[in-house]
Amino acid sequence: MPARLAILASGRGSNLQAILDAIHAGTLDAQVVGVFSDRPDAHALQRVPEALRWTRRPKTFADRAAFDAALADAIAAVAPDWVVCAGYMRILGAEIVQRFADRILNIHPSLLPRHKGLHTHQRALDAGDAEHGASVHFVNAELDGGAVIAQATVPVLPGDDADTLAARVLAVEHPLFLHVLQLAAAGRLRACDGLPLIDGQRLFTPLSLQFPAS
Ligand code: GRF
Repeated sequence: MPARLAILASGRGSNLQAILDAIHAGTLDAQVVGVFSDRPDAHALQRVPEALRWTRRPKTFADRAAFDAALADAIAAVAPDWVVCAGYMRILGAEIVQRFADRILNIHPSLLPRHKGLHTHQRALDAGDAEHGASVHFVNAELDGGAVIAQATVPVLPGDDADTLAARVLAVEHPLFLHVLQLAAAGRLRACDGLPLIDGQRLFTPLSLQFPAS
């Protein structure tokens, strides 16, 4: 049975599109069973049929917990094997993290633990980093703080600005995420107490994957 993926996305959805393309091409044995967004105008939603879309405005809920509860119920209703944050820009509260414990993945545009949070590309430039990249990690209650499964590195080049660097990182984000999702879909990736296991073996350092940088 293909792995059931619930995708959370707030924006453009290029990572979602890479997932859809890989499924279509037969390189990812998975099925997108729902796309969930906190932004009704997120372009990501347009990438799937209407029946797969769930969107609510957080402002219309009493508080964060109420929004998270509605989101969690909607996710649970599609019975996902994995919850995949692909450009989801809201923090997931502790309760939703616990409800789908060890089954939530996120892609973050930096070499974690460097540059958690927002504006990672500008922060890498400001810090004078020679290398930057992306990380896929398990989600826990700490922002961008869960165990890292895999990373891809790109060089920071002279003359880069946040946009050129973001584009170079995005080009490796897609194959990086797909690599991890292939492991997950094949049943080769698990988490035990928040720590990644691949083929039953504890991963002590993140996988370091090489992709041609643009
Ligand atoms: C990506 O850079 C992702 O790492 C970050 O937000 C961006 C989303 O891009 N969290 P997209 O919506 O998948 O195109």
